[in-house]
Amino acid sequence: MSVNAPFQTKMPEIFENYYIPTLNQTGFMTLEVDEYSQEFIKYSASFPDVPSLEIGATYGVATLKALSKGAHIIANDIDNRHLEILKQNCPENCKDWLTLLPRSFPEAFDFKEGALQAVLACRVFHFFSEDKILEGLKKIRSWLSGDGKLFIVNETPYFGTCRAFIPIYEERKRLGEPWLGLVDLNYFDPTKRPFVEGTVNLFDADTLTWVLNEAGFKIEKLSYINRTGVFPESALYDGRESIGAMTVKSD
Ligand SMILES: C[S@@+](CC[C@H](N)C(=O)[O-])C[C@H]1O[C@@H](n2cnc3c(N)ncnc32)[C@H](O)[C@@H]1O
Repeated sequence: MSVNAPFQTKMPEIFENYYIPTLNQTGFMTLEVDEYSQEFIKYSASFPDVPSLEIGATYGVATLKALSKGAHIIANDIDNRHLEILKQNCPENCKDWLTLLPRSFPEAFDFKEGALQAVLACRVFHFFSEDKILEGLKKIRSWLSGDGKLFIVNETPYFGTCRAFIPIYEERKRLGEPWLGLVDLNYFDPTKRPFVEGTVNLFDADTLTWVLNEAGFKIEKLSYINRTGVFPESALYDGRESIGAMTVKSD
């Protein structure tokens, strides 16, 4: 293949009727957006002159909706193939408002202080270590404008794919351990293990509240997210499968 050959890759087929596998074993992209991603879409679109960032955008389920509403989006992902597919799916009339950022968050790129209006990190922070979570949140805080907002969504210990981990999590909670959601693939539903690598850091409401406050965010809204109709049956548990927050910078 010539070095100038066009980049070609294909989006995988929908898995178990509900979500699309990533190309780099970081789970799946959902086909629907949750209420916090919807808030990001609305908020970013109300500031079309200021860029907003989506971290871990994959094939663009949220980014493409935000662009269609008039937002100016910087779509980040560690895997350039995801972003190339996103760009292929972007309507021509939105392409001027889309910037691709194929780099690893948070260490491989930076923005000027106050440069961004909104940041969405949907189902990506649970792949990070404790240090990276705090470092990443502090960076986002500095990138946001004074009235900027962070929207964050993660999987919880009540994520059906890891239901075998729930007793371990509950025991850690009873003992008051920090970072009680760290789980390895042995606790994953075997049908999902081929789609994920390494360990995952699941967040409950206390962990997400603590880490957001520690990084200098004030929480406007935080709640568990029921994934019925969005995740396959095997990934559901009791309506607390994911958790989201909408935040502003605290003083
Ligand atoms: C589970 S998918 C999330 C897809 C989509 N946001 C959603 O909610 O359905 C996680 C995405 O995060 C990306 N990712 C993982 N680590 C990353 C990092 N350090 N920097 C940027 N993107 C990362 C992966 O490549 C993948 O596309």
